[in-house]
Amino acid sequence: MAQVVLENIYKSFPLRQGEQEKKAKNVAESVSPEASSSTSNSVLRRINLTVEDGEFMVLVGPSGCGKSTLLRSIAGLEVLTAGNIWIGDRLVNDLPPKDRDIAMVFQNYALYPHLTVYDNLAFGLRRSQTEEGTGKKEEGRGKSEEGRAKKEERRRKSEEKTETETEKSSRVQAEVIQKKLEEVINYLASNTVNNDRIYTLGEDFLVGATRKLPPGLRYLSEREKAVGERVRAVAQLLQIEPLLNRLPKQLSGGQKQRVALGRAMARNPAVFLMDEPLSNLDAKLRAETRSQIVQLQRQLGTTTIYVTHDQTEAMTMGDRIAIMNAGQLQQVAQPLELYNKPANLFVAEFIGSPPMNFFPVQFTAPLLISHPQFRFTLPDIWAKNLQKYDGRGLILGIRPEHLSIHPPATKNLSVQVEIVEALGHETYLRVCLTDAPAVRMQVRVPPERSIRVGEELWLAITHDKIHLFDPDTELAIFPR
Ligand SMILES: Nc1ncnc2c1ncn2[C@@H]1O[C@H](COP(=O)(O)OP(=O)(O)OP(=O)(O)O)[C@@H](O)[C@H]1O
Ligand SMILES: [Mg+2]
Repeated sequence: MAQVVLENIYKSFPLRQGEQEKKAKNVAESVSPEASSSTSNSVLRRINLTVEDGEFMVLVGPSGCGKSTLLRSIAGLEVLTAGNIWIGDRLVNDLPPKDRDIAMVFQNYALYPHLTVYDNLAFGLRRSQTEEGTGKKEEGRGKSEEGRAKKEERRRKSEEKTETETEKSSRVQAEVIQKKLEEVINYLASNTVNNDRIYTLGEDFLVGATRKLPPGLRYLSEREKAVGERVRAVAQLLQIEPLLNRLPKQLSGGQKQRVALGRAMARNPAVFLMDEPLSNLDAKLRAETRSQIVQLQRQLGTTTIYVTHDQTEAMTMGDRIAIMNAGQLQQVAQPLELYNKPANLFVAEFIGSPPMNFFPVQFTAPLLISHPQFRFTLPDIWAKNLQKYDGRGLILGIRPEHLSIHPPATKNLSVQVEIVEALGHETYLRVCLTDAPAVRMQVRVPPERSIRVGEELWLAITHDKIHLFDPDTELAIFPR
């Protein structure tokens, strides 16, 4: 377990020739400092973030905003342009992925194709336990693990051309037995007798000789028993126990994804990095696996950074959420704080479904909000915060759930229903103002009342739930 600290992280990718010319033209026309280099594309721009020890941090943002690049940088699969990454008390900038003590689940996972699900899950555990025993750090995490799986697959394929599966398995077993026997004989020939050492060699021999057999028939050393317990616990939680004896090619995409997740979670790294690990699952399995991951993470207490562009995942899984846009962090906060107090227009629109409605309005002190089609007075408590905006144009934000259907009244909005989406547990409406059909908004209403397209409704705004933003800075004015 460890804290992860990201300090002034920048990452640019070099542009190819054609892209450089295009960007040079844009830079010449642009005043934006971020666009200043015509030979590189800056993808992460000054990211500062501390993920506390044991925290579940969700990284969320639209496609292409730099989430995977940031995660890959933490894993050591991308070289930073500038900045520092700390994992625990180690500055890991110059450490290769294998030395960073992380386990990563990729958007495109890779399993070892020739190993059963059980052995895929046990793989990292066996390595870490062996190497802990010899004082070495676990090797082969992240990219190198993926690379090895692919290399092994290539080697296997080339061998398959000349050797049948049974022949190969017998040869491998014979080689293992031969090697172990040689080791035992050499040891006995050259050493004074040491019972413990002979016992270990004998045990290793039995483990090696039976490793290719189905799991039930293998000789299990104490270490292997511990591996087995851990594998079964993770498999049970992720509901992949019945698949333990299958090969990856005998699994569906969703099953493979859960095995990849299990393989990372079965190990005991300082940090989990997960990049959209649930994208291949159907809605039901996605919801189940979501809570399994959270449960497992809580049990293990392992610091986790989890990338998604799914809002529900972000809101339900994270202790905190970091919202990114165009390579920059927009806000880092607990889920409900993001919903209740979005720091700027981007966050306000990104969090909440359907998204917040926005209207340009005029503010007159102390508390009057006016739009060409409606006006209302804000609750008194807002007065002192808004004094300096007297006479200015602001952006009013109203969430779809803060508009409600009411009987006709002068203070309510008259709207016409354009689209009805009845989801069963609630209904989404798209409506336009009767007096100004170009002004549209989304409304979220209880499902009891049946509503028809074209129907006229009267909506009331829940005034103490509205948001106001500065149109120049796009920052929230209230609530803040
Ligand atoms: N190796 C690379 N070379 C050049 N540009 C890259 C490279 N990798 C990523 N990018 C660019 O960096 C930006 C961020 O990519 P990244 O994969 O981090 O986005 P993301 O937020 O993970 O998106 P998604 O949600 O679609 O996975 C994109 O514009 C992408 O084109
Ligand atoms: Mg990505």
